[in-house]
Amino acid sequence: MGQLSSSSAFSRSTPTQIIVCSIYFFYLFFNFTNVEGFDSLLRLPQSGASRNRPRSKKVFYVDDFGAKGDGVNDDTKAFEDVWKLACSFPSRSKIIIPVGKTYLVQPIIFGGHCRSKLTLRISGTIIAPKDPDAWAGLNPQKWLDFQGVNHLTVEGGGIIEGMGQEWWARSCKINTTNPCRHAPTAMVFHRCNNLKVRNLTVLNSQQMHMAFTSCVRVAASHLRVLAPGSSPNTDGIHISASNLVQIKNSVIRTGDDCISIVGNSSGIRIRNITCGPGHGISIGSLGKWNSSVQIHDVIVDGAFLSNTENGARIKTWQGGSGSATNIAFRNMWMENVSNPIIIDQYYCDSPVTCQNQSLAVKVEDISFVGIKGTSATEEAITFACSETFPCERLYLEDIQLVSYSGESTSSFCWEAQGSCSGLVHPPSCLSLNDSYIEQKVLSSSVLWSI
Ligand SMILES: *[C@@H]1O[C@H](CO)[C@@H](O)[C@H](O)[C@H]1NC(C)=O
Ligand SMILES: *[C@@H]1O[C@H](CO)[C@@H](O)[C@H](O)[C@H]1NC(C)=O
Ligand SMILES: *[C@@H]1O[C@H](CO)[C@@H](O)[C@H](O)[C@H]1NC(C)=O
Ligand SMILES: *[C@@H]1O[C@H](CO)[C@@H](O)[C@H](O)[C@H]1NC(C)=O
Ligand SMILES: *[C@@H]1O[C@H](CO)[C@@H](O)[C@H](O)[C@H]1NC(C)=O
Ligand SMILES: *[C@@H]1O[C@H](CO)[C@@H](O)[C@H](O)[C@H]1NC(C)=O
Ligand SMILES: *[C@@H]1O[C@H](CO)[C@@H](O)[C@H](O)[C@H]1NC(C)=O
Ligand SMILES: *[C@@H]1O[C@H](CO)[C@@H](O)[C@H](O)[C@H]1NC(C)=O
Repeated sequence: MGQLSSSSAFSRSTPTQIIVCSIYFFYLFFNFTNVEGFDSLLRLPQSGASRNRPRSKKVFYVDDFGAKGDGVNDDTKAFEDVWKLACSFPSRSKIIIPVGKTYLVQPIIFGGHCRSKLTLRISGTIIAPKDPDAWAGLNPQKWLDFQGVNHLTVEGGGIIEGMGQEWWARSCKINTTNPCRHAPTAMVFHRCNNLKVRNLTVLNSQQMHMAFTSCVRVAASHLRVLAPGSSPNTDGIHISASNLVQIKNSVIRTGDDCISIVGNSSGIRIRNITCGPGHGISIGSLGKWNSSVQIHDVIVDGAFLSNTENGARIKTWQGGSGSATNIAFRNMWMENVSNPIIIDQYYCDSPVTCQNQSLAVKVEDISFVGIKGTSATEEAITFACSETFPCERLYLEDIQLVSYSGESTSSFCWEAQGSCSGLVHPPSCLSLNDSYIEQKVLSSSVLWSI
């Protein structure tokens, strides 16, 4: 079900917007230097502790627990057993999934808390069952399900292969005669704390590839997340109800959002991401089924997007409430991106037309700085905001978006207030509300005091 074209609901000729764009030194308020503090916050306190006492890291090999690693035998039991032992081990331990072997693993729960710090070193390949029936009687939303883990590191250069093809074929987005059902997320981290995930390749998930839900302090890096551009709902990395999450130095090519951030999340930092094909980097969707949400302090700094449906996006359903605030998209390069900059408060990914509603998630204090490259469509900048809760304090600086096919590009604004500075192309259509500038400066000191 396609998303409604956000601009089609509006009359383009309505002369409501005051077009003002002057060089204000407005950017001071969005001073992100404090966000550097993320790095230190996310650094786990490991070296100090281990230097003071002898290193007694215990190593567990999954093969010693009966795993065959031939890609045919079911190795689930061996994974459960090795996890149980390592997780209850009183000092630091490590589980090895060796290189060169392929382990078939059914839907599985890796439960915490573990007694000590644990490293799961995946150097080989873990594959999911091909047949969706393997989930019969189990939670169809998860494959490798990490619950309540703290101080876990997952690394090793290995491959997680979701074998999603049969799930995709049965998706209602591919075959509309099928009912819409959930498919598994390949790696789910729920209620995690101090998690590091790095140096892994995650392929062809049944639905989302990696999800962090209700997590605190996550550092994910050097990930390769790959699925065909045509695969349905295969988000790369999904962040929900989580705080202090950093994702960096990763390549994501999938059929849905490269990164999506939803539900009551804050302190999210995304850096150096290559994305495409896919739907771009999205805040939302927010406010579905009249839900209430707070999202704040999100920075995306450094991304290369090619042939994606969206670039920097915020999407909300009508009828929601709460707010999305203090969000910055910086230094993003776009190549043939359909909606390079988009705020869509009329998002409707539903088979039935969404009714107009007056409630909306308030979108405010959003900046787009250094967004350059090519747009696949004429409308390179879209701000379709709520009539009852207009977008406020949007900020554009150093925007250069030209058309991929050499035509002109334009901006669309509906109930969008804000300002801009420096070169902005296509020209901004934001309406300026002077009284906001002062308010913003006053609140600057608290913005990034996480
Ligand atoms: C919602 O409002 C828009 C703009 O006023 C209008 O064009 C559209 O038809 C309305 N949609 C519904 C479902 O009422
Ligand atoms: C990823 O893991 C492999 C295998 O352990 C290792 O050789 C490589 O250096 C790691 N890469 C990064 C970026 O850590
Ligand atoms: C769509 O799904 C129906 C019911 O599962 C099935 O009979 C049909 O063959 C599928 N169509 C395609 C094109 O796969
Ligand atoms: C960006 O990420 C890629 C991996 O996707 C890595 O090779 C590169 O070194 C990173 N760049 C910086 C400046 O860290
Ligand atoms: C966000 O938190 C509020 C307050 O705890 C809660 O009512 C709301 O349901 C949460 N929203 C989401 C999307 O989880
Ligand atoms: C959301 O609220 C509107 C207005 O109160 C109501 O008409 C609609 O049925 C609600 N939708 C859901 C999914 O609860
Ligand atoms: C550019 O994007 C459009 C729209 O997504 C697509 O149809 C077209 O094939 C893309 N062009 C190239 C050269 O990839
Ligand atoms: C400007 O902002 C002030 C304070 O939020 C508000 O009262 C006023 O209505 C706004 N003016 C316009 C033209 O939107």
